[in-house]
Amino acid sequence: MKRKFSNSKGKSKNTAKEHSGWWGDGPVFVFLYDKRKKEAITNGKAKEILQFVNDSEQVLHESEALRIIRINNEYSHPVLFVDTGKETGLNLLDHLRMAGYRLAKWAENNSVKTLMIPPLKDDSPKKRNAILQGLCHASYAFDKYKSKKHEKADIEYLFADDMEIDGNSLQALFSGIDLAKNLINEPGCNLTPEMVVNIAKGVAQKYNLGIKIRGENELKRDNYNGILTVGRGSKNKPAMVTVSYAAKHKKNIRMALVGKGITFDTGGISLKTQDKMYEMKSDMSGAAIVLAAIQVIAELKLPIAVDAILCLAENRPGENAVLPGDIFKAKNGKSIMVENTDAEGRLVLIDGLAEAAELGATHIIDIATLTGAMQRALGNSIGGFFSNSEGLAITITESGDECGEKWWRMPLDEEYAEGLKDKIADIRNITDGGPGAITAALFLKEFVKKDLQWAHLDIAGVAFTANGYKYTEHGATAFGLKTIVETVKRYSADELR
Ligand code: BES
Ligand code: ZN
Ligand code: ZN
Repeated sequence: MKRKFSNSKGKSKNTAKEHSGWWGDGPVFVFLYDKRKKEAITNGKAKEILQFVNDSEQVLHESEALRIIRINNEYSHPVLFVDTGKETGLNLLDHLRMAGYRLAKWAENNSVKTLMIPPLKDDSPKKRNAILQGLCHASYAFDKYKSKKHEKADIEYLFADDMEIDGNSLQALFSGIDLAKNLINEPGCNLTPEMVVNIAKGVAQKYNLGIKIRGENELKRDNYNGILTVGRGSKNKPAMVTVSYAAKHKKNIRMALVGKGITFDTGGISLKTQDKMYEMKSDMSGAAIVLAAIQVIAELKLPIAVDAILCLAENRPGENAVLPGDIFKAKNGKSIMVENTDAEGRLVLIDGLAEAAELGATHIIDIATLTGAMQRALGNSIGGFFSNSEGLAITITESGDECGEKWWRMPLDEEYAEGLKDKIADIRNITDGGPGAITAALFLKEFVKKDLQWAHLDIAGVAFTANGYKYTEHGATAFGLKTIVETVKRYSADELR
């Protein structure tokens, strides 16, 4: 039996473009191989087929990692060869995502309607799912500001066997990825804290989730002074949103997801330079990701209790803006010297961490575009994280591996906490030099209850791509969302380390 899958999510139109016709109207057959390793990835008569790959006379088309070759023996159609080994440093699942992505892009550009994907060698649902994820990634476009919209092609992918495809989980994940990417890509002027609150309300309503919204007054009442302090400079008022998913669950786990939601980070009075400042519209990536994560978790009906806490503010200079040197009192009573108003992420996050503890969280994952230092340390392909729990750390790393999100665990070494001591207040929000990503994490640690299992994910380097990275052409990557969903899945299934 042939399994059909379409990545066009039902609202597709046929592309206007006509194909040049030389591959006919029937399905185009696909063959995945690793050019460098000279290995076939798909089943089939690998040796016989592979010999054509190097036979340039038969090549009808060649671009990037794709080659179309006419094979005149038992095949009546040209075969599309996809090199799944083009990139170095990716694991097999991510190579398959890239292959799926390239296939879909090629099919779309060439108005191909049907692709026939044969079984893979040592096929498994995970491998199959990776190809499907690549196909889904290819269909994302942030084109709401373009007068000419991206036309989604209606491409049918036929899998020539019986293997089950969990289309519902895939749709759930990708509606989360689309939500997160759309929020992150939205310009600052069109995504104020209040607008994020409204979107969170919509998600809560649609998925029947609990929601608690704290505006300025409620933040004051409950002493959430970090978010208030950062938001003081803008007329767009700050807020904290807590979205709660209470599944019937047997385990004593309550997972809190805390997201940095700076809808635009100018730096405040410690103003940033103009270089690439526009990218700071993505400084709410953490909040977008935790909202999307709880949406996916609810749609998948995972048996675990989860809260998503969005710490929302706009960081701007203004008449009431916090000044370098100002001191405020955090919810736990500690006084904080704001030595640099551009180190604002940690100030909003500590309120989210406090809210998580109030809700009775046993595990907390926070996610934030927190430090330029992390970007310098690990670049734009690897996210850095910190954790006080071996088990949580291993689960995050392994989940990331499976999802095509690479993580590197960084040290939470107390020796560097020395630099956070202040002369007048209990703690300061920057240090004089030193490892900035680590000292930011150590600052957060001061506000995490000791007995909680906690991880801090710093996605400053990986959240946004100016010139494209893997299956994202430009803009938001939603890096971290898949890892968080997979981590929560493993906790809900007790697949723990
Ligand atoms: N939002 C930035 C961090 C950032 C930098 C994210 C680059 C994405 C790309 C954060 O609020 C920030 O400005 N951090 C400062 C901290 C410093 C003042 C201690 C930084 O990293 O420069
Ligand atoms: Zn900043
Ligand atoms: Zn920031």
